Amino acid sequence: MRPLFPQGTIVRNLEAADDRRAFSCGHPDLDRYFRDYAGQHSRRGLSRVQVAVLNGEIVGYAASAPGHITSSELPSDLRRRLPHYPLPILRLARLAVAEEHQHRGIGSLLLATVLQQALGLRDQYGCVGVVIDAKAEAVGYYATFGFQVVPTESGQIQGGAAPTTQMFLPIGTIETALRHDSDK
Ligand SMILES: CC(C)(COP(=O)(O)OP(=O)(O)OC[C@H]1O[C@@H](n2cnc3c(N)ncnc32)[C@H](O)[C@@H]1OP(=O)(O)O)[C@@H](O)C(=O)NCCC(=O)NCCS
Repeated sequence: MRPLFPQGTIVRNLEAADDRRAFSCGHPDLDRYFRDYAGQHSRRGLSRVQVAVLNGEIVGYAASAPGHITSSELPSDLRRRLPHYPLPILRLARLAVAEEHQHRGIGSLLLATVLQQALGLRDQYGCVGVVIDAKAEAVGYYATFGFQVVPTESGQIQGGAAPTTQMFLPIGTIETALRHDSDK
């Protein structure tokens, strides 16, 4: 994990009063989702949308929801130890940081929040790891956190305008990483 982010940044759930119109991360589909759908998705329980706020401005968001994965979609070393029915996961559907605030640790802060959420999910309902549908240019970013590319049942996923790559981080790795961070 990268612990540094601008002092005063908080992460909280999206609220109805939040102004989502000005957010721009450089990817029109991620901006459009945030502007046009994040509010209703969150209200209707389709996903949990969390925002990073700095000095009253929304500087990033993460949208996640529980889901499942089949063992054939997991890395082969984990596959052997897990049953063949659908396994519970937390899916990070979207992660974006406003262009002028990128490279300041805000994406890492949002990601760490989602990983923490996965531990809570495991404790309450079960969760074998976090799955991300990564845009091609973000695969390297997630790999720095230990996410591995895994096959999907149907090959690449059509995520909005561009195909995405499915990546997976096991819950054991998440627990070790977060414990290590809190020990610092
Ligand atoms: C990808 C994104 C969420 C990362 O958020 P961020 O706040 O900029 O990232 P952080 O500051 O936490 O981490 C930055 C570090 O991650 C690493 N990193 C970032 N992108 C990387 C990449 N594509 N490959 C490898 N490492 C990468 C670098 O070490 C970088 O350090 P640097 O700032 O010194 O260059 C953000 O850049 C973004 O919103 N991009 C546009 C939308 C997008 O692609 N979202 C992902 C959709 S799946």
